[in-house]
Amino acid sequence: MTKRIAVAGKGGTGKTTLSALLIRYLIENRPGTSILAVDADANANLNEALGLEVIETIGTILEDTKKPDAVPTGMTKDIFIEYRLSRALVEDKAFDLLVMGNPQGPGCYCYPNDLLKRYLEKISKNYDYMVIDNEAGLEHLSRRLLPMVDLLLVTSDSTARGVRSAGRVKSIVENVQIAVSKMGLVIGRSREGDASQLDREVQNSGLELFGEIPHDPLVSEYDLNGKALLGLPADSTAVQAAQNLFKSLDL
Ligand SMILES: Nc1ncnc2c1ncn2[C@@H]1O[C@H](COP(=O)(O)OP(=O)(O)O)[C@@H](O)[C@H]1O
Ligand SMILES: [Mg+2]
Repeated sequence: MTKRIAVAGKGGTGKTTLSALLIRYLIENRPGTSILAVDADANANLNEALGLEVIETIGTILEDTKKPDAVPTGMTKDIFIEYRLSRALVEDKAFDLLVMGNPQGPGCYCYPNDLLKRYLEKISKNYDYMVIDNEAGLEHLSRRLLPMVDLLLVTSDSTARGVRSAGRVKSIVENVQIAVSKMGLVIGRSREGDASQLDREVQNSGLELFGEIPHDPLVSEYDLNGKALLGLPADSTAVQAAQNLFKSLDL
């Protein structure tokens, strides 16, 4: 069974960092397993954190299928879309990556969305883990592109407002009835003592505090220089914290 782990939260709260750290954790601690990373944030940058180049996104494929002359003669639309989708899958040694890209423009996308949904269902069966880096609004999840999520990690910065906003992600999940088996809060870029000061806010959010990824100057430095986070030293603060967090979640 594929384990689907989604990361969601406001922009800048450390979703992409956490997703990359999770992928690294799985590569190192679950050797031999297959991993599909999905960048479902319109502001896509998971590929950079993972050190991969992306040529094609789902957004452009769906947009292209709306052009009258998009499908080459002699090819059915279904086959054409499936072919383009398969090309959008970036294959790396230890994992594959799919980038959803920009939200779609106006008009009805029911038909390509349906194909996308079926395609995701089909390929997800090939993987032991799916790690999905989402935007706060959970747009892709709420369009039910995935049937369910095993674990949802909601990220927040270490402010009261941030935690409240994480609580709203929980409400979105409940309102659109996304099937999530387990959900909790991860505070990113925290400084010492932050978590205990946010205790009350965390309780009010209704989210269980899974853990925190402390501020790590190396993460900022790697990002600043466009270096992949998979290359962070094993003893760096963020990698160590992620290791403890994911171990405790029994992935
Ligand atoms: N633990 C951390 N320590 C230092 N900087 C961090 C940490 N987590 C995230 N950052 C920085 O904060 C910014 C936002 O992080 P990112 O993971 O891209 O957030 P999101 O995907 O939610 O927008 C990035 O510049 C990143 O380098
Ligand atoms: Mg991001």
